[in-house]
Amino acid sequence: MVKEKILVIGASGQIGVELTLALRKIYGNNNVVASDLREQNPLLEGTGPYVSLDVMNKEMLHVQVIRQNITQIYLLAAILSATGEKNPNLAWHLNMQGLLNVLDIAREEKLSKVYWPSSIAVFGPTSPKQSCPQQTIIEPITVYGISKYAGEFWCNYYNQRYGVDVRSLRYPGLISYKSAPGGGTTDYAIEIFHEALENKKYECFLQEDTYLPMMYMPDAIRATIELMEAPAENISIRTSYNISAMSFSPKEITTSIKKHIPEFSINYKPDYRQKIANSWPQSIDDSVAANDWNWKPEYDLDKMVKDMLDNI
Ligand code: NAD
Ligand code: SER
Repeated sequence: MVKEKILVIGASGQIGVELTLALRKIYGNNNVVASDLREQNPLLEGTGPYVSLDVMNKEMLHVQVIRQNITQIYLLAAILSATGEKNPNLAWHLNMQGLLNVLDIAREEKLSKVYWPSSIAVFGPTSPKQSCPQQTIIEPITVYGISKYAGEFWCNYYNQRYGVDVRSLRYPGLISYKSAPGGGTTDYAIEIFHEALENKKYECFLQEDTYLPMMYMPDAIRATIELMEAPAENISIRTSYNISAMSFSPKEITTSIKKHIPEFSINYKPDYRQKIANSWPQSIDDSVAANDWNWKPEYDLDKMVKDMLDNI
């Protein structure tokens, strides 16, 4: 059996830190190399190898893959929806070229697997709002969504044409407490906890009735690992799988937080992110993931809220 050696690119981000720590538990600390543009991350320090690396520098990336005997890559470096709208060219460039660099190296070095996340941001205003299916009308309006949708087809292309075993999930908004989020439209659902605990009030950049698909980080990490460990013959989707866990509005998460902090109050001041949120589905149908590799979430809104408040 080939001994797997994993490179996580974007390991210092919101998902990267927790995914790196989870992979280290499974594969052993020294078999998971964390990498990021950032020099180091205090949460990863002392837990295993860390290299400073720019995914846009294909030569240096290739050298690292060969030097470290890498067999799998998890590519997490990207610019998210809200930040992407501030600099569309940069978002397109990083999100596309970073992926193409990784897919090319995976093909050349015959890596055993690649993981790359897509997002609910692929969907647009013409997609169904409720239980948005795996295959449907997809017309994204953000540069982030466009880059994710194009990326999904590049993954499918490298799989069909070159046999690269690349797998992907369309994450909903991810909620977590370990590492700060990187500039998404769903980040209000993280900020709200910090403000509730520190100031007992929060000014929300989305309207009270804006429903969005969300997921707690432990579910997202488990989904990622379960997808990557599933037998290749079970993987029927080579673009990216819908997955879902919960769906709530700012008003509903406020009600849930108030069960623990009754004096907490919220007011609403929607900004440019409202338009992005309005373009996304409110809930997602993940039945294909459930059928193919038994995906099932564990956390609902109240369970997630309690765990967040206990841990921040
Ligand atoms: P993040 O912004 O928190 O982390 C991204 C990391 O990539 C950062 O640590 C950053 O320093 C690093 N990075 C940026 N440019 C780089 C470069 N050129 N080379 C190397 N590293 C670089 O993002 P995240 O929330 O952890 O998201 C990870 C992935 O998951 C992204 O592809 C994102 O689109 C996707 N995703 C995230 C969410 C979410 O809610 N967090 C939802 C859907 C999809
Ligand atoms: N949470 C992400 C964002 O809001 C969804 O991809 O950008």
